[in-house]
Amino acid sequence: MSRDYNVAIVGATGAVGVEMLLTLEKRNFPVKTLKLLASSRSAGKEMTFKGQTLVVEELTHESFEGVDVALFSAGAGLSKEYAPSAVKAGAVVVDNSSAFRMDEDVPLVVPEVNPEDVKKASRGIIANPNCSTIIELVAVAPLHRAKKLKRMVASTYQATSGGGAAAMQELIDQTRDYLAGNTQPTPEKFAHQIAFNLIPHIDVFQPNGYTKEEMKMVNETRKIMHAPDVQISCTCVRIPVLRAHSEALNLEFEEEITPEEARRILCSSPGVEVVDDPAGNVYPMPKDASGKFDVLVGRIRQDCSRNDKRGLDLFVSGDQLLKGAALNAVQIAELL
Ligand code: A2P
Repeated sequence: MSRDYNVAIVGATGAVGVEMLLTLEKRNFPVKTLKLLASSRSAGKEMTFKGQTLVVEELTHESFEGVDVALFSAGAGLSKEYAPSAVKAGAVVVDNSSAFRMDEDVPLVVPEVNPEDVKKASRGIIANPNCSTIIELVAVAPLHRAKKLKRMVASTYQATSGGGAAAMQELIDQTRDYLAGNTQPTPEKFAHQIAFNLIPHIDVFQPNGYTKEEMKMVNETRKIMHAPDVQISCTCVRIPVLRAHSEALNLEFEEEITPEEARRILCSSPGVEVVDDPAGNVYPMPKDASGKFDVLVGRIRQDCSRNDKRGLDLFVSGDQLLKGAALNAVQIAELL
């Protein structure tokens, strides 16, 4: 017999939190009660769920009484501080931050790739992977299953939504100001001007010269695919797009694979929409991926730098706020 669940969203007023609310509604998640939690700044604010007005409450350690599933998206610091309180109150936490992703006793799950790992949540916490990693894996994991991935070189083109609602607003404001003649804006959420620019720097630099975001893609991809030896290099770039991330992926497999075979595999893979008709100028673009649950995959071609058929190039676009965050979290809750 199916039952309904008491759900809480931590960070309900944020860019991802708002999408979590909409995704619960769109997917008709069996919600008995829904608690919207944010900072004291938002307490009292009204939001709508299934035509009902709900009032945002201030997050406290006592917020989780009676809650079955708590979806966290308010940053790693708050997850570390409040997730234990949610677990103590009896809730299962699905955490969108990087706080617990690499902990051994916390499964890191993309439902299309490793749904069985949700059963290993001995600590009561399941982590939602980094957005670029999720979008990459929806396309790469089915190919890995068929031909075993050996090496991947990824370049990302990441939207401002990854920095939250204020970062999206900064792109809009800077663009407007720039067009009005202010070509020297003061950046706040990013290290540099984002309007009419791009920034090859997401999260902090590590001793090896990569950024933390880049190393998240390396380590999380290995953990989710249970492929500790796969070789990965990555460059993450912030671009002036509002909400969908794109990635150019160069893949080397243990076995040969042709673009036709890859297309066939991807056409029958869940969460993927193959968008690949170069003659008709049809390929994945962030404007088309925005608002979609599926990840768009195209530009599928044989790697011309090799003299065998073990290399493929492809281009993917996926909605960072949906499959890259809110949708994946709700899908994990559905698995539970
Ligand atoms: P608030 O809107 O009240 O600041 P984003 O990723 O778009 O920046 O959103 C971050 C989310 O985390 C928002 O919902 C924000 O709420 C919430 N948040 C930020 N600081 C706190 C805090 N100290 N306590 C609870 N929620 C917080």
